[in-house]
Amino acid sequence: MLDYEDVLAARDRVAETSRHTPLRYSHTFSSMTGADVHLKQEVFQRTGAFKIRGATNRVATLSESEREAGVVTASAGNHAQGVALAATRMGVDAKVVMPEGAPISKIKATQSYGAEVILDGVDYDEAAERAHEIEREEGRFYLHAFDDWEVMAGQGTIGLEICEDLPGVETVVVPIGGGGLIAGIATAIAGKQPDTRVIGVQAEGAASVPQSLERGERVERDSVDTIADGIATRTVGEKPFEVIKERVDEVVTVTDDQIAVAVTQLLERSKLLTEGAGAAPLAALLFERFDFDEDETIVPALCGGNIDLNTLTTVIVRGMAETGRYLRFRTVLPDRPGALDALVTVISETRSNIYAIRHDRTSRDVSMDDAEVELDVETRGPEHVANLLDRLEAAGYELDILT
Ligand SMILES: Cc1ncc(COP(=O)(O)O)c(C=O)c1O
Repeated sequence: MLDYEDVLAARDRVAETSRHTPLRYSHTFSSMTGADVHLKQEVFQRTGAFKIRGATNRVATLSESEREAGVVTASAGNHAQGVALAATRMGVDAKVVMPEGAPISKIKATQSYGAEVILDGVDYDEAAERAHEIEREEGRFYLHAFDDWEVMAGQGTIGLEICEDLPGVETVVVPIGGGGLIAGIATAIAGKQPDTRVIGVQAEGAASVPQSLERGERVERDSVDTIADGIATRTVGEKPFEVIKERVDEVVTVTDDQIAVAVTQLLERSKLLTEGAGAAPLAALLFERFDFDEDETIVPALCGGNIDLNTLTTVIVRGMAETGRYLRFRTVLPDRPGALDALVTVISETRSNIYAIRHDRTSRDVSMDDAEVELDVETRGPEHVANLLDRLEAAGYELDILT
């Protein structure tokens, strides 16, 4: 089992490679929620995510012979970079297996931190198989991303920092993928401030912990589907689950649309770039996925900011659509001069701004006398969208809302 002392011991080791990240009060999110919200800005961690903490603690606690043999791991994301930097800084050779389709930016970042990157397999599971082969063939230490006590202890140092920077904190909200992060943080908080609540957040399309807690044993999903790739796991680790059962107060879920809203709001209001997993705790707060009191001191742990730019584009559009700032719809017009102009006039009368328009008179989805039109429109909020839709419907347009 993981003890508070393990997290304390990790602290000095972790200081070797990672930063004590800022914890800042947020006027915006406090006034939006009525709580006293402070953001733990782990997005400013070296490598852009917390994984460097756990990796550092694990490398630092290897035996001499393990250090000499080197480490190997599999990851398509933040763990890869954390292991690469931690191992290199401590003079240990590292090999990281990534799936063949891993984003080039992540491959390059991992290489730049000093690891040898091996591309193998179509997904994480196949990459992990190859990494285990390397473990056996070369006698390397397999550095697991979450199912390891020392890795969890390293991640727990975030909990120590939160308690020190904000001693009155009442609730800390943490994303859950494999569960190593929350296990470490919950252990730190149980040791330092046992009355503080720890709430876990999973993406709805990758949730397994609420069901696992209900059954008292780990449940594994057949598949996962979420924009938050950092927490897209089919189940939690065996060891983290033991800790979660004992020390986590509640586990809730959020949808991808809610995550998209949180990413967009953090960017627009706080100027913070988070990845889906990093924004999930704020999504749980904004959408009141757990109960809290007025003025309750709450810390959403924003644990990573490594978002692929293509994903970010999609997330922003979804986040804006969800908050009534963007509308994409399709309609059918008679294929004759002036029809498009009439539609555009209704839209401009509501002072909505057209971003993009696609007019297709050859579409097979409509009759030969008609044309299909798809529009992307900038709007000013839910009321503005409702007004625009009312006006269009009153003018006789049949609408198919696409986002
Ligand atoms: C940004 C981010 N948040 C949260 C998590 C979840 O951590 P864990 O797998 O230890 O639960 C990850 C895991 O990769 C992550 O990258």
